[in-house]
Amino acid sequence: MAEIGTDILKAKALLENGELVGIPTETVYGLAGNALNVSSVAKIFQVKDRPFFDPLIIHVAGIGAIGAYVEKIPPLAAKLAHAFWPGPLTLVLPRKQIIPDLVTSGIDTVGIRCPAHSLTQQLLKELSFPLAAPSANPFGYISPTKASHVNDQLGEKIQYILDGGECIVGIESTIVGFENGLPQILRMGGLSVEDIESVAGKTKIQLHSTSNPKAPGQLQSHYSPKKKLVLGDLKKLVKTYGPNDVGVLAFNKWRNEIEPGHQRILSPTGDVIIAAQNLFSYLRELDQLNVAIIVAEEVPDVGLGRAINDRLRRASAEIDR
Ligand code: TXA
Ligand code: MG
Repeated sequence: MAEIGTDILKAKALLENGELVGIPTETVYGLAGNALNVSSVAKIFQVKDRPFFDPLIIHVAGIGAIGAYVEKIPPLAAKLAHAFWPGPLTLVLPRKQIIPDLVTSGIDTVGIRCPAHSLTQQLLKELSFPLAAPSANPFGYISPTKASHVNDQLGEKIQYILDGGECIVGIESTIVGFENGLPQILRMGGLSVEDIESVAGKTKIQLHSTSNPKAPGQLQSHYSPKKKLVLGDLKKLVKTYGPNDVGVLAFNKWRNEIEPGHQRILSPTGDVIIAAQNLFSYLRELDQLNVAIIVAEEVPDVGLGRAINDRLRRASAEIDR
């Protein structure tokens, strides 16, 4: 198992030595390595069992740091960064050659974000390189929102996890790319479409779900528990599968016919921000219950609700595993 602690200097030393460290961010925990060191980057793919065609995003302390890594910053990208960084927004921009091909899977853009978490901010300020960091879960599984989640799955493969408590946003960053200077949302996430449009104006949503996606987090099946997850009307689903065989992920209401331990309520007050915070941890808990199937319902399709529903749909997609 990995050591879990808050020692930034220890994390720094490991990273400088080419090792990987679990890091907290406001969205989800990341599996971080030196983005400019090809062998560290290769370790990230290995530890996550991630296909090389899926590019990594890099993390920097602030907007001042990005000039070294990107060729050009469209005016609307700068505007978005000024409005929302540090925060749950990843910008996809033309990369400079200093970023290894392995980071970007050979494509000519790089995803960059500036995370809003004090520990990771301090760490990034101590380092002379950006951190490549995908979510710290095995490829395709639910992202971690606590240090213990990282330890449960990757603890055998890394030495240290920086413990920043529970992630306050709870779902991954929103990814925005640019075409002819105009923003396009490539992954819905912790920054709502409404927030982005309040700064950038009407923004196209371009979620890819093909086998060669622009953002492979958009693979049709992703963010999945090990158990089968079925999305729909809870009352009907409980009837179909039987009250004793299901774990229930509900938006705001308990169900009388299901034992309480087999239910998780994303937000009893019906708040999508709270629902996002709880989503991944509840999915993990349900995945560990002694039930055959997880049944879930969509949440209201507003604000972060859209990103939650996107994750639930992908989690419910059938896959070959
Ligand atoms: O909130 C987050 O973004 C977390 C924390 C740790 O920062 N990171 C994260 O990384 O979610 P990851 O690798 O799990 O998801 C990043 C997504 C992937 O789906 C990848 O395909 C996409 O970003 N991506 C990376 N570089 C890209 C690029 N140049 N163009 C389009 N999509 C890109
Ligand atoms: Mg991920």
